[in-house]
Amino acid sequence: LTVDWDTGHYDTGGYEHYLLKEISEQPDTIARTLRGRLDDRFHVAHLGGLNMDARETRSFRRVKIIGCGSAYYSGQIGAQLIEELARIPADAEPASEFRYRSPVVEADTLYVAISQSGETYDTLAAVQELKRKGGRVLGIVNTVGSAIARECDGGVYLHAGPEVSVASTKAFTSTAAAFALLALHLGRVRDLSPADGRRICEGLRALPEQIKEILTQEEHIRALAHRYATSAGMMFIGRVRGYPVAREGAQKLKEVSYVHAEAYPASELKHGPLALIGPEMPTVAIVPDDEMLDKNLTTLGEIRARSGRILMVGHRETDQADDCIVVPKNQNELDPILLSIPLQLFAYHAAVALGRDVDRPRNLAKSVTVE
Ligand code: AGP
Repeated sequence: LTVDWDTGHYDTGGYEHYLLKEISEQPDTIARTLRGRLDDRFHVAHLGGLNMDARETRSFRRVKIIGCGSAYYSGQIGAQLIEELARIPADAEPASEFRYRSPVVEADTLYVAISQSGETYDTLAAVQELKRKGGRVLGIVNTVGSAIARECDGGVYLHAGPEVSVASTKAFTSTAAAFALLALHLGRVRDLSPADGRRICEGLRALPEQIKEILTQEEHIRALAHRYATSAGMMFIGRVRGYPVAREGAQKLKEVSYVHAEAYPASELKHGPLALIGPEMPTVAIVPDDEMLDKNLTTLGEIRARSGRILMVGHRETDQADDCIVVPKNQNELDPILLSIPLQLFAYHAAVALGRDVDRPRNLAKSVTVE
């Protein structure tokens, strides 16, 4: 199930690990994903690689997103962006499941395949099945000329540069940014107003500086990671926009530190996993300053009442949590990109604290090119 791991001519650029290098590169990698694609005149996104005219772009009634692992979680962020900005029903599914369940392929559905490597076999097989049935498939891919990129009808390259560490970080945030561009594009040929288009363009432009600000908190996050790394397990929760962030945060922690982590929608806690909450099971709560804030704070109260420790990642400190990481606020729709970054640093430093093989976690390969 593995492929050879060869860093070739890449180096860590003075960082201790590729993972930290790639996390730290994100102000630049996001800027590269956005470069030349935002139009201030009409507040639209230019995505020449889609190979679709405006009439065709308007014709889709549904968007289906597929990818594996972190690519799938970034697809969940993408589905929410498309529903919010373009008001097209959208959902994400693991490509590995999609390909085996004989999916119904519809002419008025736009399919989007996501892959950093462009070589993940399950995603490639899903794209091939879609193409065989006449589906229209776009790729959001980092590696230029890769198998998935070649198989798709068009798409968006991330331009995030080579990602070497097995755990995906910069490709995850660049994919979310690419989805924001796609959602803006789909939205502006439909009903998204110029004012909202401008709001999203400005939000996207603000991301690199805001990421820099988050990275200055590394020492604070490192201290927290060292404190929580010895937990038996951790619960990650979020609502709506916070939920894919929680899933990706749990994935990063599991992958690189081997600390057990579960992600749940915050609203689902009381339907089962609340039974796990206690002093030995801390919770990482994603609490953006959006319309879910009050509900999320109520959930924190419920966890506290069960003696659960809470690390909150959000936009303002709260005494409902034991520890807080505060990130800069962007537009609600774009906040997931920024909220993900402290969780990458948290997983990285937990892995270092536990002496793990950070860039080459056990049992995993950077690119899973077999079934
Ligand atoms: C991410 O940290 C993982 N290594 C893994 O989930 C990865 O995202 C997945 O295997 C998909 O890879 P791809 O983006 O290259 O297709």
